[in-house]
Amino acid sequence: MSVKGLVESNSLSSIPSKYVCPPIPEDSVCYESDIVIPTIDFSKLTSCDPRERSEATQLLGDSCRDWGFFFLINHGVSEAMMDEVFRGCESFFNLTEEEKKEFEGRSLMDPIRCGTSFNPDVEKSLFWRDYLKLLVHPRFHAPSKPPGLSEIIEEYCKKSRQVTEELLKGVSRSLGVEENYIHEKMNVRLGTQVFVVNYYPPCPSPELAKGLPEHTDHGLLTLLIQNDLDGLQVHHDGKWVPVCPPPNSFMINTGDHMEILTNGKYKSVVHRAMVNNRATRISVGTAHGPSLDTVVNPSSELITEAHPPAYRGITYKDYLLLQQSNPLHAKSCLDRIR
Ligand code: SIN
Ligand code: FE2
Repeated sequence: MSVKGLVESNSLSSIPSKYVCPPIPEDSVCYESDIVIPTIDFSKLTSCDPRERSEATQLLGDSCRDWGFFFLINHGVSEAMMDEVFRGCESFFNLTEEEKKEFEGRSLMDPIRCGTSFNPDVEKSLFWRDYLKLLVHPRFHAPSKPPGLSEIIEEYCKKSRQVTEELLKGVSRSLGVEENYIHEKMNVRLGTQVFVVNYYPPCPSPELAKGLPEHTDHGLLTLLIQNDLDGLQVHHDGKWVPVCPPPNSFMINTGDHMEILTNGKYKSVVHRAMVNNRATRISVGTAHGPSLDTVVNPSSELITEAHPPAYRGITYKDYLLLQQSNPLHAKSCLDRIR
């Protein structure tokens, strides 16, 4: 059963035991105000002024190396469009359980899949999260219900892809290679884009449950937005840093394939989603990776005697299957190909 169904069909004063996760040490969360997640101005990264562009590129490289995480502002995707995406996604979860069943999907690579937790068949405890996952590029897939949702998602995914394509040029420049380097090597024109909605209903015992466990994302970059509720935490310097994004920004993180491609120079960042007892939190991510049949290897330009190849090559499709069929945990998937 979905978490939403569970919450709505019971008046829960606590959570069922299968949702209880191992306790989190309180001192592992960092509330220091001088730990500041970097913010990158997209308009500067794409500016015609070479100095502005080069400064923004430098900051992008530093953020990928030191954090694996940054906010992006002035990216040209309006708040109105983001609100429309949240409203549309909410209306999908408001379909009846019976209607949503049609979109459950049968296999891990089904292009339309909704469900709960991450992979309930292999998990020790379940996560307080329902989801909708769509393969939206190079071919677009979306549920046929509710009316209008597919168009909103398609429009939004197109925009997030445009932003990502520019970011990947910036990342290439920051690595000291030609700006289309990642595009060509990763076949970005036919790249895989996955659209994921995470739906976290209010939880009566938020300190006992988790929305998503600590994990890294597959792919090169993930662009994430959320409705007005925070819950994401990123792992930085041994602490968990709660993420409070500036208005109308994207929260962006580097994925496992960025780590493989850069031979560990830009590492994928471990993050997790916490839940709250006030209201439903919705986050919408688009994960951008190479084409499914691309074999991702450490880039020869970043291999040196001191840094021999740290990962073995694997197609993006096989990597996705590996991640989806195992419990989601920290860097366990990447560790399998070291
Ligand atoms: C995710 O890691 O995919 C989602 C994180 C969030 O809900 O903020
Ligand atoms: Fe994630």
